[in-house]
Amino acid sequence: MCGIVGYIGHREAYPIVIKGLKRLEYRGYDSAGIMLFDKEGDLKISKTKGKVADLEEKSKEIISAATIGMGHTRWATHGVPNDVNSHPHLSNSGNLAIIHNGIIENYEPLKKELIKRGYTFTSDTDTEVLVNLIEDVKKKDNLKLGKAVQVALNQVVGAYAICVFDREKPDEIVVARLGSPLAIGVGKDEFFIASDASPFIEYTSNAIYLEDEEMAVVRLHKPLKIRKIKDDSLVDPYIQELKMNLEQIEKGGYEHFMLKEIYEQPNVIKDTYRGRLHANEGIIQMAGVEDNLEKFLNADRILIVACGTSWHAGLVAEYVFEEFTRIPVEVEYASEFRYRNPIISSKDVVVAISQSGETADTLAAIKLAKEKGAFVFGVCNVVGSSISRETHAGAYTHAGPEIGVASTKAFTTQITVLTMIALRLSKAKGTLSNSDYFRYLQELEIIPEKVQEALMTNEHAKEIAEKFKNSTNCLYLGRGYNFPVALEGALKLKEISYIHAEGYPAAEMKHGPIALIDEQMPVIVIAPKQGHYDKVVSNIQEIKSRSGKIIAIVTKGDTQVKELSDHIIEIPETSDALSPLITTIPLQLLSYHIAVLRGCNVDQPRNLAKSVTVE
Ligand code: AGP
Ligand code: GLU
Repeated sequence: MCGIVGYIGHREAYPIVIKGLKRLEYRGYDSAGIMLFDKEGDLKISKTKGKVADLEEKSKEIISAATIGMGHTRWATHGVPNDVNSHPHLSNSGNLAIIHNGIIENYEPLKKELIKRGYTFTSDTDTEVLVNLIEDVKKKDNLKLGKAVQVALNQVVGAYAICVFDREKPDEIVVARLGSPLAIGVGKDEFFIASDASPFIEYTSNAIYLEDEEMAVVRLHKPLKIRKIKDDSLVDPYIQELKMNLEQIEKGGYEHFMLKEIYEQPNVIKDTYRGRLHANEGIIQMAGVEDNLEKFLNADRILIVACGTSWHAGLVAEYVFEEFTRIPVEVEYASEFRYRNPIISSKDVVVAISQSGETADTLAAIKLAKEKGAFVFGVCNVVGSSISRETHAGAYTHAGPEIGVASTKAFTTQITVLTMIALRLSKAKGTLSNSDYFRYLQELEIIPEKVQEALMTNEHAKEIAEKFKNSTNCLYLGRGYNFPVALEGALKLKEISYIHAEGYPAAEMKHGPIALIDEQMPVIVIAPKQGHYDKVVSNIQEIKSRSGKIIAIVTKGDTQVKELSDHIIEIPETSDALSPLITTIPLQLLSYHIAVLRGCNVDQPRNLAKSVTVE
C-alpha cells in the first residue's frame, strides 16, 4: 500500500528516486522519504509527512552525486502519518536503513524482545522493529546483510516488500517480498527496484518480478541471485521485457489521470478483446479459458470474489453468466468470503477480479479457495501481480496502468473479459442460440465505437455537474444489468467528490429509500430502452411525485423519460447484457466533473490508496 523505489548504479540516484516516487504516489501517499549514500560515506535521510512534492522541497539539503539511494511513499498502517513515522527507518546503530511496503503483524512481541535487549525506538511503526530485528540478528550471528535479512524475515509474520541498505557494505541493496509487489529493473551496470515498473520503464524495459517469499541481494557487477527466504534455495531469475511505455503513464494532455483513463476506454476495451474476439468467425479464444474449459463447463457454480469496483464488475458478470451459460453464480466481497468459513468444493470455479492484482483480501480469498480445492481463475490488469501468479489460470484485462485511484477503465475491461468468457462457455454449452451468440459477438466488437459516442456527452455531463456539485446526498437507481452500474456510479461519486451516494435496485425505493426523496435529493436513474424500461419509468414517476430531482441516462431518442426528468444524458442503444459498458460512461464523467468543480483531488482522493495491499 505504498511506493518503494531503489537505485544502485552509475547515475545520480536522487532524481531517479524522486521521479520514481511521483510515479508511485497513487499507491498510497500520506508521507514520503528518501535515503542517499554518497562516496564520502555519508548516509543521508530526508523524510516528511505529506506528498513527494513536499519531500522534494525538504530534501534539497541532502542532494548529492550519490549513486545509491532509495525512497518511499507511505500509506500508514502502524503509527500516524508524521515525519518520524515516515520511511526510511534506521536501525539503532544508524548503519541499516529500510523502506517497507506492507505490515509486520507480529511486530509487538518482536519489539518487546528487542527492547529487552536494549533497543530503543523513535517511531511507532512496525517497520522500525523489522530493521532493528535485522540488526539484532546480524550482530548476534555476525552475518552479512543478506543472510541477516533472511533469518529475520523467517521470524516475521505479515506482508512486506522491503529494501534494506547497510552503510558498512554500500555496494548492495537487499530486497525481499511477501504479499506486496516488488519489481527489479535490470539495466546496464545498474539496477532499479520499485513497487511496479513505472519508475524505471524509461531506463529499462527488462524487469524481474520477485515472487512471494523471495529475496535478492542486488549488487553491482554481480549477477542477480534470487533465493527463497525459507530455505535459501536459488531461483532462476526470469527477466520479462515489458511493453509498457512512458506515455501510458503520463497524463497525455488530460488534466487528471482519471479523465485520461475514462477516455482510454474505447481503445483499452479493443485491446482487451484483440486477438481473442473473432466476431465474423464466431470464435472467442482465451488460452486460460480453453485450457480449463472442462472445469468451467462442469462447475456446480461460479463464485466471484473481489472488492470495490471489481466487485461491481463481478455483479454484472453474475447477470451475464447466468443468462448466457445457465451456470449458477454467487458474488462475494473477498473480505467477507475469507473469514466466513465458506463452503467450497472442487466442483466450484472461483473467479477473482482485481485491477491491481495486489488487493490483500482478494489474495487471501484466493488462497482459501485453493486450500479448499477449488479451481481459481484470475481477471487482473497487472502483469506479474501477486493475484495473477497465485491463481491457477487467468485472463488479463489490457487496460494499461490505471493511475487514478478511482477505477474506470478497469471496470469496463473487466466486464469485457467476463462477457467474453460467458460467451465462450455459452457456445460450448449451447445455451445461447447461434443467432444470439453471433449477435452478441458483433455487438461486443462495436462497443468501443459506442463508448466513444457515449464520451461525447462529456460537456453535457459537465453542465449537469455544475447544477449538482453542492449536493450533500445522491441516489443512483438501476434495474437488472444496470443495478451494479448504479452501485458503481454511487461509488465513483463518493470516492472522488466526498458526496454521500447510494446505489439501489430501482424497485427497492418503495422499501424505505423513497423516504429520502425531496427537492434536495438528486436521483440518477439508469433507464436505457432495454431491460425493464416500463418498470423504471414508473419508479421515476414515484420519485417525480415527491419532488425528487431526476437525472436520467437514456437511450438516444428517448421521449417518455425525457418528459419526466430534469436532465437526461443520451447514450447509444445496445443490448441489455452489454449496456453496463455504455451506461457507466456518463456516470464516470458526471462524478469526475462534480469532483473537479468541488476542488477535490480527483486522482488521489483523501484516505484512499490505489491498491489496498493490507487488510
Ligand atoms: C474503486 O474506484 C476503488 N479504487 C476500489 O474500490 C477498488 O476497486 C478496490 O480497492 C479493488 O481494487 P482491485 O481491483 O485492484 O482489487
Ligand atoms: N506498515 C508500514 C508503516 O505503517 C508500511 C506501510 C506502507 O505500506 O506504506 O509505516
